[in-house]
Amino acid sequence: MNRLSSSSAPGASVSPGSGAAGAFGASAAPSNTRPTGFRPPGTGLASPQVQTLLHRPEWLLGTPLLPSRHAFELPAAMPLIISVGGGKGGVGKSLLSANLAAKFVRTGMKVVCFDLDFGGPNLHTYFGVDSRGVTLSDVVVTGQKRFEDVLLQTPLQGCTLIPGARSEALGREGSVDPAAMGQIYDAVVGARARFGADVVILDLGAGTQFHTIDMFLMAHLGIVTALPEPTSIENAYMFLKTALWRLMDHVGARSKKLRAPQEIKAALNASDGQGFQSRGYAERIRALPQQDPEFTRYLFAAMAGRRTGIVINQARNQQDVNVGGSMELIANRYFGFQSQFLGYLNFDDVAWKSLRNRRLLAIDFPQAILSHRLNDIASRALTMFGL
Ligand SMILES: Nc1ncnc2c1ncn2[C@@H]1O[C@H](COP(=O)(O)OP(=O)(O)O)[C@@H](O)[C@H]1O
Ligand SMILES: [Mg+2]
Repeated sequence: MNRLSSSSAPGASVSPGSGAAGAFGASAAPSNTRPTGFRPPGTGLASPQVQTLLHRPEWLLGTPLLPSRHAFELPAAMPLIISVGGGKGGVGKSLLSANLAAKFVRTGMKVVCFDLDFGGPNLHTYFGVDSRGVTLSDVVVTGQKRFEDVLLQTPLQGCTLIPGARSEALGREGSVDPAAMGQIYDAVVGARARFGADVVILDLGAGTQFHTIDMFLMAHLGIVTALPEPTSIENAYMFLKTALWRLMDHVGARSKKLRAPQEIKAALNASDGQGFQSRGYAERIRALPQQDPEFTRYLFAAMAGRRTGIVINQARNQQDVNVGGSMELIANRYFGFQSQFLGYLNFDDVAWKSLRNRRLLAIDFPQAILSHRLNDIASRALTMFGL
């Protein structure tokens, strides 16, 4: 971890809330980002500036330490990795994943989607393709196939899909075997050299199981998708808390400071019980007696080394949209993640109409407001990385 010792952690600075999203139905663009539409990034992703950003040691520090070829050394050229999670089922993770892919390929980028929902893999249905039973498990469990063999061409030129498998097929019951996770990690970070991917999209399952959280933390940008309703928001916060807890484990493992995360978690749990909940975890970690100040510095560096995006789906009015701004603020201030409200998706029947036809709404309904909102989200995600 020597490369990190010169880093200027803590860096989880709080960005100004960009929550005020403007009139409902209009663009929710914060003023500092491109409002609508798309500027093709051209060779941006291959540029030394962007590649330096994708290779940040602070980012690597927070990724899971798996039995993997790229556990410590990243490949020379990396794709931009975006994970789509949120803790709850049916909130639009797959819809967002597939349609973001459609938006990205329109700019000339090559996209590989990984269906990593081990509870109910169905991303192929959004694309209208059939895996014919050949999935991720044939690669990472039986070893009968290579990733290249299971990669499916989607109807989108420039977009391929690794179809998902149910967790029963992936190792231990209810969780994913570390060796399988290591192979997935290698394929994801190596997707530029291996599949020519500019962007990799990881469509995650519901829940806060460690393998799901670990795949969320494998991304440069982790998107938390939520509906503007209490159960979904609660699950999103639980998802962020578990991500913070898990991030401590990864930083501890990578910096060989294995006890520090346990001590911090115990102190935070104890302070939860003493009515300190009003003070966020980030603040409380900073205020803890510094048993291992170096670990705390690494932890904040790892948080600053990745981005978290908030997306509100199925918004029906301005109040719903405003939930995104509040969540951004809480993700930043309470949990310490560098977060931005990326935008909202309005509730629209074209979502199920296109799904029923096994076609992408971004392709079939480009003039729908929903499609424009997807543009905004895709555009802001790229802007975060200077694209
Ligand atoms: N903005 C929206 N308006 C209307 N229906 C939506 C919207 N977003 C998603 N849906 C519907 O919600 C359901 C769940 O979406 P999905 O993306 O599969 O959720 P997840 O992947 O989070 O489980 C689908 O039937 C989808 O058509
Ligand atoms: Mg899904």
